[in-house]
Amino acid sequence: MAGRLEGKVAVITGAASGIGAGTAERFVEEGAKVVIADLQAEKAAAFAATLSNAAVSIACDVTREEDIAAAVDLAVSTFGQLDCMVNNAGIVGAVGSIADTSAEAYDATMNVLARGVFLGMKHAARVMLPRKSGAIVSLASTAGVIGGLGPHVYTMAKHGVVGLTKSVASELAASGIRVNAVAPGSTVTDMTSDVVTGDIEDKDATAAAIAEGSPLGIAGFPLDIANAILYLCSDEARYVTGHTLVVDAGQTTGGTAAAFHGQTADVVREAGRRGI
Ligand SMILES: NC(=O)c1ccc[n+]([C@@H]2O[C@H](COP(=O)([O-])OP(=O)(O)OC[C@H]3O[C@@H](n4cnc5c(N)ncnc54)[C@H](O)[C@@H]3O)[C@@H](O)[C@H]2O)c1
Repeated sequence: MAGRLEGKVAVITGAASGIGAGTAERFVEEGAKVVIADLQAEKAAAFAATLSNAAVSIACDVTREEDIAAAVDLAVSTFGQLDCMVNNAGIVGAVGSIADTSAEAYDATMNVLARGVFLGMKHAARVMLPRKSGAIVSLASTAGVIGGLGPHVYTMAKHGVVGLTKSVASELAASGIRVNAVAPGSTVTDMTSDVVTGDIEDKDATAAAIAEGSPLGIAGFPLDIANAILYLCSDEARYVTGHTLVVDAGQTTGGTAAAFHGQTADVVREAGRRGI
């Protein structure tokens, strides 16, 4: 059976580690060729080498338009086309109280998380429009759908990713290009290990802490998010655009409301009988 991305070519930003690296591995398993684009050039090159002839790497700072343009052009010159753009590179950015957040920290954070995604969409569209096909997936966050789950500027930027996804999807739908986002809940990567334990190597403690706060009682790993990105990039999602797929073990459902679970059955049955 052919892979779910057989014959497709992807650029994945921030693919030297975490969710981006997991996505690159998953994409290659499903038959894709990938460009590993990351600020950490050496790590990106070493990782691409593990994927043999299915991957190339490029040093890329997503805040720089020429770097994003070069990553997209590398996909076309090396593999012939661009089918999937995954705008994944990210940082936690400015933390702290709104009263204490500097304008410089705001700008630096928005540059990576918002400008970087904007540039990724722009240059993917540049090469996808003539072919009238393609899928763009950007990494939002649960902090992009509700407040209180991340720092202020991160939350603003990730809400922006959700908004830009809808806006660009509405423009590019007529050209056969789908534009979606994935909003992960806490996922075990260097980024979260750093925040949760202060030690990017301590993934076990990070996973345990995430599982404890998770409605499903489990931690998310890059593979969990990669599978959602894979779906949205594949032809299985041909009818899906402008959507933000939340992958968070129920973190944004609003709580488990355990006190109500034994008490609503009669009401639900009554409602069902009336056809509501
Ligand atoms: N880990 C989580 O819990 C979680 C939750 C929600 C959303 N996300 C989002 O998922 C994405 C990936 O996060 P992760 O957890 O895998 O993080 P990570 O720190 O493991 O990986 C991020 C990668 O992005 C690269 N990067 C950072 N700044 C860059 C820049 N300016 N240009 C190019 N590359 C750059 C880093 O070098 C790194 O390889 C981010 O957008 C993040 O906001 C993560």
